Amino acid sequence: MLARNLARTYIRPAVRPAFATTYALRSGFNSFAKHNGPEVPVISYEGGCRHEEILSTPVSKTSGPVNPSGADEQKKAYPLSPSAFKYLTPTLSMFTLPGKVAVITGGGRGLGLNMAQALAETGVRGIAIMDVQQELGDKSARELSEQTGVDVRFYRVDVRDGQAIQQTCQDIADHYGGLDVLINAAGIADSNIKAEVYDHEKWRRLLDINITGTFFVAQACGTHMIRSGKGGSIINIASMSGSIVNYPQEQSCYNASKAAVIQLTKSLAAEWAPYGIRVNSISPGYMDTALNRVPALDAQKRIWVDHTPQKRLGAVDDLNNLAVYLASEGSGYMTGNNCIIDGGYTLW
Ligand SMILES: NC(=O)c1ccc[n+]([C@@H]2O[C@H](COP(=O)([O-])OP(=O)(O)OC[C@H]3O[C@@H](n4cnc5c(N)ncnc54)[C@H](O)[C@@H]3O)[C@@H](O)[C@H]2O)c1
Repeated sequence: MLARNLARTYIRPAVRPAFATTYALRSGFNSFAKHNGPEVPVISYEGGCRHEEILSTPVSKTSGPVNPSGADEQKKAYPLSPSAFKYLTPTLSMFTLPGKVAVITGGGRGLGLNMAQALAETGVRGIAIMDVQQELGDKSARELSEQTGVDVRFYRVDVRDGQAIQQTCQDIADHYGGLDVLINAAGIADSNIKAEVYDHEKWRRLLDINITGTFFVAQACGTHMIRSGKGGSIINIASMSGSIVNYPQEQSCYNASKAAVIQLTKSLAAEWAPYGIRVNSISPGYMDTALNRVPALDAQKRIWVDHTPQKRLGAVDDLNNLAVYLASEGSGYMTGNNCIIDGGYTLW
């Protein structure tokens, strides 16, 4: 049954389905789900103890992103038929990830979830989503598994908790037998805060999540990649704010955190190249995600669009193909690179 369904060819709709339509379409995919019911294994670590539970959370139209003021545009992932591989040219086959295992932090929603969906379409056999938001992560993992048949697991963990991150990565390596790709997408933003009144705790919290968290996860996954002897690909989500200063909002802490992510990326790339580990960063411009879909930013968004040569914000899935490229052997000779993808914003 699974094989028959996986062999079906899916054609992407020209227009992405609206939120309500997506739910209707999803119900038709349950037949070949890895986890048949609305259940997903959830693993968390607190105080050094491992907790595993099978969560059963029926999805209703009222469950969704915890930040209801700004919902992401919903998209569905499609499985890649195993039979398709033999028809790919050598060039196209370089952009697939057959049998690989990917870890994605901040994969509960937004850019992280969309990149997880993209990897799920390239032949990966496992995806581990790490996020602090239980309901979102659980829902996203279950739906991605239902849509593609990939073994997707959700790990509720805070990237600031170094010990929990190490235990989680060990758990992932034990379950899947290794890990090959890491996308570090967990991050937060504080905008419109003047430097002279920046609260010290707020400052520390942002750096802790955006830079220390990125390092903790890279360190834990990198250690497994080194031990395996097979190398891997690490993709850190930085920001164009790591290279330019945004206008008009003041956000010195966020900008500094993303500059640090870019330099961390280069440092790890140089250190770990001998182990076959490539480390690159993606620096998005202004993206139309839940993070930015708040009325308070409406006026500033008009300025952002006006200052972008392509005259639009990035779509929530605009990083997907770059992420696939960086994860795959298609970018085999690229490491330590910071790829800006911003509709041209940083040109002016
Ligand atoms: N949206 C943009 O315009 C934009 C632009 C440039 C860079 N980025 C970066 O892209 C990444 C993703 O952004 P997004 O727009 O999808 O944001 P988002 O808020 O939609 O998603 C971020 C995810 O990270 C999770 N997260 C936050 N703190 C965490 C923690 N301590 N531990 C584990 N998970 C945590 C959140 O729960 C959320 O699911 C971030 O690093 C962000 O800085 C975003």
